Amino acid sequence: MTTRPIPSTQEALPVIGCGTWMGFDVAAGSAEHQRLPGVLDALFAAGGKLIDSSPMYGRAEAVTGELLAAAKQRDKAFLATKVWTSGREAGIAQMEQSFQRLRTERIDLMQVHNLVDWRTHLETLRDWKDQDRVRYLGITHYTSSAYPEVEAVLRAEKLDFLQINYSLDAREAEQRLLPLAAERGVAVIANMPFGGGSLMRRLRGKPLPGWAAEIGCASWAQLLLKFVLSHPAVTCTIPGTSRPEHMADNAAAGTGSFPDAAFWQRHAHSIET
Ligand SMILES: NC(=O)c1ccc[n+]([C@@H]2O[C@H](COP(=O)([O-])OP(=O)(O)OC[C@H]3O[C@@H](n4cnc5c(N)ncnc54)[C@H](OP(=O)(O)O)[C@@H]3O)[C@@H](O)[C@H]2O)c1
Repeated sequence: MTTRPIPSTQEALPVIGCGTWMGFDVAAGSAEHQRLPGVLDALFAAGGKLIDSSPMYGRAEAVTGELLAAAKQRDKAFLATKVWTSGREAGIAQMEQSFQRLRTERIDLMQVHNLVDWRTHLETLRDWKDQDRVRYLGITHYTSSAYPEVEAVLRAEKLDFLQINYSLDAREAEQRLLPLAAERGVAVIANMPFGGGSLMRRLRGKPLPGWAAEIGCASWAQLLLKFVLSHPAVTCTIPGTSRPEHMADNAAAGTGSFPDAAFWQRHAHSIET
């Protein structure tokens, strides 16, 4: 799988990861839970690493930690999670719980979820980074109404990562946030690359355009992920899935070439229709 450098360290990060919202919030013993080891196996087999979770995602952190421990795969993962509460002590307590749930002594990336009380948590995270409890820090959001505040934080603070929504049908981040992240040397994780799943539902059953083969795409999922990864400011993307075959499909988009903006411009009409 292609890797891209995290600007603050130049560490290579594989371009396709796995989101755990919904898909990993499942009960132990359920049919959905039994599929999840296969999702992680497919991610790692393809050379992927990044797994993104949050205390907001119900059982997802605990399920991720349990699966990684059972399969002895912690070392293969780049674990990203979030803090999603207000107040210094509450933030510390929640993040300590994430270490336990993820069964790890070090979290690769800790992000302030939806900018909730970001000033407070970034201060804690700077200390924890100095102590090597977290390797990188960042902020996340998922909707364009929050972009002005995201932009202000991106300008004011020294961050390693910005996680933001970006997909073929939600391109507002191109206007200011993606160029600014590149300028500030901040890695970008694109979340909701399938529009939260709505794009996949709209495209189901529709034939792939002929030009998909030109860029090595054998599925709509691959085409949508290639689009996201074509933006030069995007470091990686984290499609959410609970199915091994979807993880393998998604991971395949992380190989081969990534077309330039002119390519997508040439096919804009086909994409819109
Ligand atoms: N504020 C934030 O920080 C924030 C907000 C939103 C999301 N996120 C993160 O970003 C991740 C991705 O966003 P998302 O999960 O909301 O939406 P998404 O990745 O745009 O779409 C996920 C949906 O696509 C389906 N899917 C995945 N791969 C597929 C494939 N190859 N073929 C067909 N369907 C496929 C999944 O179903 P199956 O399970 O059946 O594959 C699921 O319904 C989240 O899981 C989360 O980690 C963060």
